[in-house]
Amino acid sequence: MIFATGDIHSKPNRLSMEAFPEQKEMTRDDYVVILGDFGLVWTKEEDKYEKNWLDWLEDKSFTTVFVDGNHENFSRLNAMPVETWQGGSVHKIRPHVIHLMRGEVFTLDDAVCFAFGGAPSHDISGLAAAEELEQNYAAGILDPGDKDFDAKLSKLKKLNRYSYTHPYRIKGTEWWPEELASEEEKQNGIENLRKHGCKVDFVFSHEGPSSAVALGWGGSFRPNPQSQYLEEVRQLLRDQAFRPAYKAWLFGHYHENRRLTDREICLYEQITRIW
Ligand SMILES: [Fe+2]
Repeated sequence: MIFATGDIHSKPNRLSMEAFPEQKEMTRDDYVVILGDFGLVWTKEEDKYEKNWLDWLEDKSFTTVFVDGNHENFSRLNAMPVETWQGGSVHKIRPHVIHLMRGEVFTLDDAVCFAFGGAPSHDISGLAAAEELEQNYAAGILDPGDKDFDAKLSKLKKLNRYSYTHPYRIKGTEWWPEELASEEEKQNGIENLRKHGCKVDFVFSHEGPSSAVALGWGGSFRPNPQSQYLEEVRQLLRDQAFRPAYKAWLFGHYHENRRLTDREICLYEQITRIW
């Protein structure tokens, strides 16, 4: 069995026995896939809150796997030892709480799955002007190395941090440039797909392919390097024998539960069985 769900942002409550009784029938060889913004590798070091929830997940009957989103601590995640598991590279947060690295292919319960985490944040515009953000989506990030850091931070603190006009995050403690995939990670993904004959059963990502995002949100979210890369992957997979070479592509990030096309599905709180 494989179940999928969207962003949990450090709160895995939806996987409680009460909310998700299907787990009674699940074993360690069954999986719950979290489509990014896992959020339980976030603070500088694993704190009590994270430890409690990670241990709670580890004690579940099933195995939890996740792709990374844009709300993860990449300094911590990328410092973890890389292991090979079920055919691809992973970081094991716990023996049964596992980060699927970008561009890797895994066999989960006999289903071949391509994983590709990462997405550009939408909540980082800070004090940057619209024109600056056109050039660089991360222009509003607060950088502690910037000479004006303190002044900018105090100005932003006077505004509502969670407002739609001036959301901000600080580089190195709340935001990391690694939220976007590197060229190496993108290349790794294409190479691994080719090794598998460009045929997989499922794709799990945080950002969506640009065509699905355009369909779903009517152009509100412009294509970006991550969604454009995923669109290339989509074309590559769909080109095979002129039919989709995957059963479903599931992604998170947009905080909505929506089927966008015959195969592309955005998930948020919903937990859905896919295999
Ligand atoms: Fe999110």
